[in-house]
Amino acid sequence: MSDSFDLVVVGGGPGGYVASIRAAQLGFNVACIDDNPRFGGTCLRVGCIPSKALLESSERYAEAKENLADHGITAEVELDLPRMMARKDEIVDALTGGIDMLFKKNKVTRINGRGRLLGNGKVEVAVGDDKRTVVGKHILIATGSKPATLKGVEEDGDRIGNSTTALSWDSVPERLVVIGAGYIGMELGSVWRRLGSEVIVLEALDRVLPGMDQEMSRLAHRAFKKQGFEFRLKTFVKSATVKNDRCIVELQEGDPIEADRVLVATGRVPVTNLGLEEAGVRTDNRGFIEVGQSFATSAAGVYAVGDCIGGAMLAHKASHEGVACVEKLAGRAAHVDYDAIPAVVYTHPEIASVGRTEEQLKEDGVDYRKGFCPYGASGRARALGDINGKVKVLADARTDRVLGVHIIGLRAGDLIAEAAAAMAFGASSEDITHVVHAHPTLSEVLHEAALAVDGRAIHT
Ligand code: NAI
Repeated sequence: MSDSFDLVVVGGGPGGYVASIRAAQLGFNVACIDDNPRFGGTCLRVGCIPSKALLESSERYAEAKENLADHGITAEVELDLPRMMARKDEIVDALTGGIDMLFKKNKVTRINGRGRLLGNGKVEVAVGDDKRTVVGKHILIATGSKPATLKGVEEDGDRIGNSTTALSWDSVPERLVVIGAGYIGMELGSVWRRLGSEVIVLEALDRVLPGMDQEMSRLAHRAFKKQGFEFRLKTFVKSATVKNDRCIVELQEGDPIEADRVLVATGRVPVTNLGLEEAGVRTDNRGFIEVGQSFATSAAGVYAVGDCIGGAMLAHKASHEGVACVEKLAGRAAHVDYDAIPAVVYTHPEIASVGRTEEQLKEDGVDYRKGFCPYGASGRARALGDINGKVKVLADARTDRVLGVHIIGLRAGDLIAEAAAAMAFGASSEDITHVVHAHPTLSEVLHEAALAVDGRAIHT
């Protein structure tokens, strides 16, 4: 096998594998290195995909237990956790196997091993003590991120663990303490809450999902409380340890909490342990790789995309950056529209947003108008049996250009795509009102919220 390539990509997650395939399509001879034998990165192996599989299964379980009677259906419901986990693993296997097939089809050379930059276009790949060197005209770093650890919290990878651990517990914890009410805390907390755990969420800030539009985060908080979550806000964890098979979580103020398991979900940090300094690749004071135009790092011929360069730690953002980077290397025009990157929390209700929040608009001194529509106005939502939620459209008061859309409710993650498309095309809220939306679909709620910006709503 040749050891010289046009492009060597370090990291086979959504940033790296997508960039590899696109680069190969553009005529580059590409190698993609990952130290895990299953390519796909955190997203496919221990992130987006397995968590969504468990969210779906656990929601069906909760639905069958609690809500089917309303539809006139009665059933005896039992949990088969090993089967639920096996289904999740099957989905992950299918998708990681799919990447291998795509690599073959596109003639991307797949190299399993740990990559380390040696400078001058060289990358060392190590599998145990076996080492080889590959050379790339260009190098793309897409090494992603890993869960942040918390001082005083002794993760044993079993009782006290992170998002990876919490995807594979073999029994339902009676009591689970979640540290951090962000994306991961609320998604994985939801899985175990639905399967029967008592879930206590400890959050340092004064609200859940702190990055979200405040109104949405307030509505989410209310919905989660109704589901039986217990929240302790403005709460700092001093330590968490395992004693006699029980977890003891000590707080800065108040009594310690005992639990069967603890999930640490306090953010993620970039993975940058690949010889960056020696290779002349600069990182910022938080450890993220610094990139300039076209994702170029401070070392000639070395580029970086995805979680390791900071910004929204989202798979789709990484993929778009990867594609834009290699398109530029191929001399094409490309850009990532950072103002229109949707974000979705896959809880029930789902919470999705694109663009700026009301708080950001106020902070930026932007004069805006808003329109909203509750899900209750939608015939489809009623037929689906879930009318909890709302859509909020924020538009520039002078130009009517859409500046942000925030949705909480059923299928919010799918509905946000239209809002992202509208923003990417620079649409006004009036533009959305001119689009014919099929009836009866949930998409009508967005249509109605856009009408409401100008006081023209029909159904509210
Ligand atoms: P996050 O940044 O979403 O939330 C972490 C939370 O922990 C924050 O609310 C923070 O205030 C809190 N926190 C931090 N230190 C704390 C402490 N000492 N005690 C109590 N609370 C503390 O991070 P999370 O949930 O770990 O997710 C990591 C990244 O992964 C996010 O940036 C997210 O973008 C991404 N992700 C995206 C998903 C999606 O797109 N659906 C799903 C899961 C993760």
